[in-house]
Amino acid sequence: MIATSHLVASSPGWTQRADVIVIGSGVAGLTSALHARALGLKVLLVTKARVDEGSTRWAQGGIAAALSEDDSPDDHLRDTLEAGAGLCDVDAVEVLVTEGPQAVRSLIALGAKFDLDPSGAIALTREGGHLRDRIAHAGGDATGAEISRALVAAVARAGIEVVEQALVLDLLRDATGAAQGVTLHVMGAGQRDGVGAVLAPVVILATGGFGQVYSQTTNPYVSTGDGVALALRGGADVADLEFVQFHPTVMWLGPEARGQQPLISEAVRGEGAVLRDSDGVRFMEGQHPLADLAPRDVVAKAIMRRMRETDAPHVWLDGRALGAAQWAARFPTILAYCQDHEIDPATDLIPVAPAAHYVSGGVRTDMRGRSSVPGLLACGEVACTGVHGANRLASNSLLEGLVFAERIGELLSEGIPEVRDPVASDGRSVALIADRQRRDLQCTMTDDAGVLRSATSLEDARVRLASMSADGSACTEDWETTNLHALASVLVAHALERQETRGSHWREDFPERDDASWRIHLVSRMDPDGQLHTRRESVRT
Ligand code: SIN
Repeated sequence: MIATSHLVASSPGWTQRADVIVIGSGVAGLTSALHARALGLKVLLVTKARVDEGSTRWAQGGIAAALSEDDSPDDHLRDTLEAGAGLCDVDAVEVLVTEGPQAVRSLIALGAKFDLDPSGAIALTREGGHLRDRIAHAGGDATGAEISRALVAAVARAGIEVVEQALVLDLLRDATGAAQGVTLHVMGAGQRDGVGAVLAPVVILATGGFGQVYSQTTNPYVSTGDGVALALRGGADVADLEFVQFHPTVMWLGPEARGQQPLISEAVRGEGAVLRDSDGVRFMEGQHPLADLAPRDVVAKAIMRRMRETDAPHVWLDGRALGAAQWAARFPTILAYCQDHEIDPATDLIPVAPAAHYVSGGVRTDMRGRSSVPGLLACGEVACTGVHGANRLASNSLLEGLVFAERIGELLSEGIPEVRDPVASDGRSVALIADRQRRDLQCTMTDDAGVLRSATSLEDARVRLASMSADGSACTEDWETTNLHALASVLVAHALERQETRGSHWREDFPERDDASWRIHLVSRMDPDGQLHTRRESVRT
């Protein structure tokens, strides 16, 4: 798949041993580390930046769970399946919705403080695609930050060793093909500086998604898909990468804006804000029974259509009805973003447009976080459990991280695999893509493989990606760009193959959903020569 003119194998300069290595420090990584530690295992948690960086802390709206008396796991199941557009694995969704409420209660027991209603119960709001109020939130619109705070504190209390500034490179495997650790590049001082190896018979990937593959995204700079790319190079199955969700309401900062953009939570619409076009006309009514609170893919597509019809670069979010007091109390983070851009949302409209937000696909796992490579586990956004199908339901992501991290804990309680020496080299080397091409890659993906796609645009993207030169060095930025390039290439390959429109995959040349041919997952595996092999797998019912 990638030209191999310049091959770099990662050769470790230092070595450390653990029972379990957890890579990533969002909700899924922190939770799985806590479960592993509670079993008395030696856990090493490594993270690319600071322990409290990453996508979790940016999550605004909240965490979805059937917590109220007028809600039920069955109702949550129905809404999740509806949003997932026929591609959710039903057994995975059943696990999510039935184990979700207890997982949230465990988080509260650990110290997370959710907003309460006047009766003292957890305050619940609504977001797109939910037919019940079931979104618990914290600090108004700072839910992820509060969850991250509580979990980071719990990890410190548990005495888990954390290594920050550590970019994961490649999987180490033994002669049977099982995971036995990873190589890392640690940007620190002292004995763990530079490229090293952590040897462990259990490797838990919790590195999040790869929104940085696009030029405009809600994801932080660290979201470069390092875990999915490692799994791909390590021979694991990855699935559903064509389903990247575009959040409908991301603050529009002008045509030249790049990188992480401010998210305006769906909860703002849950509290009464509505979308308007450039003429001030509401356009979601009549498009879906839930109007402005339709599932995310429906709203994002309606916005794109209206932007085209009116030749406008954005639409408007009208939250004036909320009033100044509600903005300050309920959405302090978003209010601060608006004020930074001289917008008063109590009196002004907010310019918004869709931007890349969440990858529904990832490392294919079973119900206990197991990938197709023994010993390699994954949870959170890096994983494809089958919960999200073609379009994730709002606020199901933090929940998925919690529930499936806990399931990994249950798996580990049955014992961990045998420690074996990794083979010195299994013949896989990485052709590094120089970071100077990252901007080109991101713009290509936004222009040709973004919200709207066609065979022509995707073929252009494929050719552009294939032409990028593999002359990078082993610096961390080149590794990240290499990871983005690998995932962009799989995304484009899947998007070309899937000749239909479903959920967050919108083919202009195949505008209809085609259940007869395409109610399947696309699952890819890379062979040691870098060739991608894609197969079709049935949706689990
Ligand atoms: C939001 O607050 O709109 C984002 C929540 C999510 O991505 O689930």
